[in-house]
Amino acid sequence: MKVIAVINQKGGVGKTTTAINLSVGLARSGKKALLLDLDPQANATSGLGRKVAEDKNDYGIYELLSGQNKSNETIQAIEKNLWLIPSSKDLAALEMEVSQTGNWHGLLKQRLGLLNEPEFIIIDCPPALGVLTINALTASDYVLIPMQAEFYSLEGIAQLIELYKKIKHTHNPDLAILGVLLTMFDNRNTLSKNVEDELKKYFGKLLFNVKIPRNVRLAEAPSYGISIYDHDKWSKGTKAYKSLVKEVIDRVN
Ligand SMILES: Nc1ncnc2c1ncn2[C@@H]1O[C@H](COP(=O)(O)OP(=O)(O)OP(=O)(O)O)[C@@H](O)[C@H]1O
Ligand SMILES: [Mg+2]
Repeated sequence: MKVIAVINQKGGVGKTTTAINLSVGLARSGKKALLLDLDPQANATSGLGRKVAEDKNDYGIYELLSGQNKSNETIQAIEKNLWLIPSSKDLAALEMEVSQTGNWHGLLKQRLGLLNEPEFIIIDCPPALGVLTINALTASDYVLIPMQAEFYSLEGIAQLIELYKKIKHTHNPDLAILGVLLTMFDNRNTLSKNVEDELKKYFGKLLFNVKIPRNVRLAEAPSYGISIYDHDKWSKGTKAYKSLVKEVIDRVN
């Protein structure tokens, strides 16, 4: 089982879009995948909303982490090879509740330890470097960092890398960076290309070969509660996320 945390404390850089379409893509390549929504905004949950059972939304990541429910009670089957642990606004309260307790950083790891079915767990993190993201870093094998191709994208990355190193050093020595993913890339825009050059210098081989293009079909899909594969399987976005799935499988092996 490989656990991949999709992390960037910057908001709106494509974390959730990547988490959803990577999970669905892995499932459709025959890998058993679990998408774990670790964001109180619950965008990954609503992004697959058409397939999420509403009556089961009472049980999700909050209930799992607070110990009210067991992992098998919070997992929902979405389609062949794909499962979801949904989120809800309640998750926002968890931060306060657990930060008083001793071993709060290892809570998620402990709860996920009971799962052995999925080959991949993809964690959609909130745009913050708080309790939830620290739990994700402690529970994961890999970090995947989506970055928007824009002028300010490198800002804050030093802080993210510092936290990554700190958790690796203190709680999770095997943690590794799986890759940095350029999102919302615009080929016709010289700024996008300059940012790419900049990131290549900074991250070298860690930068994924595939770049996710800016593609309106990717932005539309969540409003229908479906992934890009079901919304428009011939779109540029679908092609790009399919390439990402291949690269992720290669890198993990
Ligand atoms: N490649 C893309 N092309 C066009 N629109 C995109 C693309 N990727 C994401 N978007 C849109 O940009 C917005 C932000 O994306 P997303 O929700 O995936 O980011 P996020 O990092 O998860 O945000 P947050 O930090 O709030 O959780 C959404 O409206 C999404 O539909
Ligand atoms: Mg998000």
